[in-house]
Amino acid sequence: MSDFLDPEIIGSTPREISRRDFLKGVIVGGATVSSAGYLFRASTLLAQSGVSARRLLTINVNGQQRRADVMKQETLAWTLRHKLGLTGTKLGCDRAECGSCTVLIDDVPHYACSVLTHTVRNRKVLTIEGLASADGKLHPVQQGIVDEQGFQCAFCMPGFIMASVGFLKSNPNPTRLELAQGVSGNLCRCQDYDKILTALMRGAENMRRASHA
Ligand code: FES
Ligand code: FES
Repeated sequence: MSDFLDPEIIGSTPREISRRDFLKGVIVGGATVSSAGYLFRASTLLAQSGVSARRLLTINVNGQQRRADVMKQETLAWTLRHKLGLTGTKLGCDRAECGSCTVLIDDVPHYACSVLTHTVRNRKVLTIEGLASADGKLHPVQQGIVDEQGFQCAFCMPGFIMASVGFLKSNPNPTRLELAQGVSGNLCRCQDYDKILTALMRGAENMRRASHA
């Protein structure tokens, strides 16, 4: 049984959760998805090295001022996941290749594994946990994923969503090809690209509808 069907993780029996429920959990907060040992390669080494002193920093994450003790060589992905508990930002390659750690910094997509935390002190960081509105209403791109059931294991999903949201800010009415190019910095190990793109296009359509409502 894969980790994400572990009853302790989903708080339910496998039979009680539908694929739609599972996807929704990942979409809203990047709920736990199976991760292999390699996922933590570089960051783990960094954390264990203990080569520099920590410094208390305040950073703006999802509209809140968050404080954390941060090493000078610490990446934003590490801080988000291990200091602030925002595990929706996934660590895949940990070296700027897969895009699973994508977050928005001042509305522009960045690989959080390749940004040092101390460099974002005066900037606004948005993660997958900050996308839905306070009343729980999904962001239109998140809703597009639910509508189209666009991912398989969904490990890559938060990164794709954040990359799309960032791209759609500059091009709200893309062609399928343009959107594919817009998220081309994100990889899916399940290689479900066609369905992913269909879901993201639906998300773009949802965004346009929402802006005209
Ligand atoms: S984990 Fe950051 S790009 Fe792969
Ligand atoms: S859906 Fe499995 S890695 Fe993308």
